[in-house]
Amino acid sequence: MPFTPRVFSGIKPSGDLHLGNYLGAIRRFVPLQQTHETIYCVVDMHAITVWQEPEDLRRWTYEIAAAYIASGLDPNRSIIFNQSQVVEHAELGWIFNCVARVGWMARMTQFKDKAGSEGGENSEAVSLGLFAYPSLMAADILLYKATGVPVGEDQRQHLELTRDIAKKFNHDFRKQIKGLGLDEEFFPLTESMVTGPATRVMSLRDGKKKMSKSDASDMSTIYMMDGADTISKKIKKATTDPEPLPSEAQGLEGRAEAANLVAIYAALSDRSVDAVLDEYGGSGWGRFKPALADLAVSVLAPIATQMQRLVDDRAEMDRILGNGADRARAIAQPIMDDVRRIVGFVR
Ligand code: TRP
Repeated sequence: MPFTPRVFSGIKPSGDLHLGNYLGAIRRFVPLQQTHETIYCVVDMHAITVWQEPEDLRRWTYEIAAAYIASGLDPNRSIIFNQSQVVEHAELGWIFNCVARVGWMARMTQFKDKAGSEGGENSEAVSLGLFAYPSLMAADILLYKATGVPVGEDQRQHLELTRDIAKKFNHDFRKQIKGLGLDEEFFPLTESMVTGPATRVMSLRDGKKKMSKSDASDMSTIYMMDGADTISKKIKKATTDPEPLPSEAQGLEGRAEAANLVAIYAALSDRSVDAVLDEYGGSGWGRFKPALADLAVSVLAPIATQMQRLVDDRAEMDRILGNGADRARAIAQPIMDDVRRIVGFVR
């Protein structure tokens, strides 16, 4: 029996949302509502793998849910909720901790980056949760038997690990799965969906560094809640080279800053990089930057206004998240019932 085409993705509430989150994730979640069953999560349990002030965690959780909706996710169509409200994530995460191997986790580049690479003094001091992070992520996805996960480039490795866990579970428990009359491919081998021109949005100050909330310079990152003036100022002051824009994408090679700004323009206008260069090839930054600033403001300002309205209405947000969690649980519970029987838990 083929799996229902189902999309799952999540964002961690561990900082203010920025353009990288928007273009790399949220904006790409929206059209999938038309073609798939879609589940979009605020992964608060992942956020606490590094220390979060509880008040900040709560505020960012609401902010991400509000950004989802303000960007065009329809809470009646998509399931929108925060992870910790559906405790089955933790339960399946634990079972996967017992399926996955320590060596698999130790190889994850995101872990090595955060913990300091092999043998680094830091790697002993990070939380145990940070080490097991990818196993909880696999649980997020497989709890719903999701078939596709829209993510940025940097999450590909975690998706591969998700498939490894699915494969090992299907294999280790094949006798029990068969014995219960279930399909032998119990968990699907989930695909990552990495598409579009801006799967990796770079810093406005350094085209070789990812745009990030932890950048020392405030000018390197456009936040979703930035006002129009701030957005314009940041774009106009973005680092560039002195050359005019090329007429073809090839001409952007070796020009990281220029490539980044063009990719941002393309993503914000739903056009290809080539289409943007058709229009702006030969132009200098004096023409391109104001155009990009206007475009960014026209897309982001209405979203920021709507986000603010939503985060100010906590009762409404609680209702939406509670309702999303109920719908998520309704999908997860029968799957978890099977998992418990497969594993041999007595109920
Ligand atoms: N690890 C993802 C990130 O850092 C967040 C995440 C957690 C996620 N669980 C997920 C993404 C499940 C997709 C699906 O961006």
